[in-house]
Amino acid sequence: MVSIISIKSKKLSGEVFVPGDKSISHRALILGSCAVGKTTIENLLESEDVLATLSALSELGVNIKKSKNLWEVRGNGLGSLRSPDKVLNLGNSGTGVRLLMGLVSGCDITVSFTGDESLKTRPMKRVLIPLEQSGAEILSNDDKLPITIKGNKIPIPIKYSSSLSSAQVKSCVLLNGLTSTGNTSYSEKVKSRDHTEKMLHFMGAEINSKSLNDGTHKIELKCLPYLKGKHLNIPNDPSSAAFPSAVALIIPDSEINIKNVCLNSLRTGFYKTIKEMGGAIKFINKKNICGEVVGDIQVKYSKLKGVVVPEKRVPSMIDEFPIFCIVSCFAEGETVMTGIKDLKNKESDRIKEMVQNLNKCGFYVKSTSNSISIIGNKKVNPGKEIVIDSKFDHRIAMSFLCLGLLMENGIKVKNAETINSSFPSFYDIMKSLGANLKK
Ligand code: S3P
Repeated sequence: MVSIISIKSKKLSGEVFVPGDKSISHRALILGSCAVGKTTIENLLESEDVLATLSALSELGVNIKKSKNLWEVRGNGLGSLRSPDKVLNLGNSGTGVRLLMGLVSGCDITVSFTGDESLKTRPMKRVLIPLEQSGAEILSNDDKLPITIKGNKIPIPIKYSSSLSSAQVKSCVLLNGLTSTGNTSYSEKVKSRDHTEKMLHFMGAEINSKSLNDGTHKIELKCLPYLKGKHLNIPNDPSSAAFPSAVALIIPDSEINIKNVCLNSLRTGFYKTIKEMGGAIKFINKKNICGEVVGDIQVKYSKLKGVVVPEKRVPSMIDEFPIFCIVSCFAEGETVMTGIKDLKNKESDRIKEMVQNLNKCGFYVKSTSNSISIIGNKKVNPGKEIVIDSKFDHRIAMSFLCLGLLMENGIKVKNAETINSSFPSFYDIMKSLGANLKK
């Protein structure tokens, strides 16, 4: 068990690169495996979650290796995937397991999946329901892992309208559609991150997305796309960038710059909300890389005011709620977040963990099963070091380490090794900006 302690720090300053985007890294490996020819990947996030997807693909027979700074994926088309000799363990990664289940369910192979203690408790019904439509045979432990899937060689095209706004469900369905002989369609009420659609298009698939009159977003993937191996350059992760950004916003005199971050508008809800709270955040040097908008984020210490987060924005900041709660603790007045019930299905029950732990630190935080409200108070001082258990949730661990940088007696986070699932260099990057962290 690794513990990290964070202690009251002076201003953060400097310029940093956070690591590559986790969502895009998973997709680069998976779509590279589906393509014909060589895909080279620059700036792949080498975190535990992504490496779990990489080794699962290797077990499925894909040739993936690192050559100098580039990862090379030798795809041979989907027909070449084989049934692995062992159960594929995706560790802590919901994205890895849900996307791969979509992929294998459209192939003539049988694959068993499992994960760590956290992943084994997470709901899989959301992907099993559409996958059953495709004719895959599925054996699960009451809709949870371990799960065995016998893929359908010629999948029946899925036509699915989801009640959730989930990029994992959407991507799972689209990956199944790669081998289907008819067009696949998927609709969602609020648009979730669209990296899969963008990358499929970049690699040659015919995929269309439109908004219907009732506001629903509908995607159609033309059957049997020919995906061509490409060079994929992964932008840096806005969800990781949210941690140093949050600290810079709330420690007086801070000023930082985070380079080459993915600024896809379906990922930047956290930054948009912070701007509405009065936060000095600027996106500069914007460019387009492999179909994604990329740029630098400038953040300065700001006096923030509480806000009500619009429910429609929730999917675009879904992973940032833990660190957003920390920022809200330092805003004047009340901040209200509603429509967030899916947070209980993340790596931990994030509503419960945030509320209980913030209360333990002395903040005034209330919740329902679908909301959190926080009344900011800069003067909170519990008078002793607070100990937080990460519950094997990387974002809970990093959020409380950020909070400790403002607390007189600091915060100790237990089971902090979970940070390696998304942001292995968190400790070093935060320290390079001036954060007072100790192992
Ligand atoms: C992800 C989608 C989101 C997000 C997760 C990564 C993805 O999950 O929370 O961290 O890469 O598709 P949901 O699809 O469950 O909302």
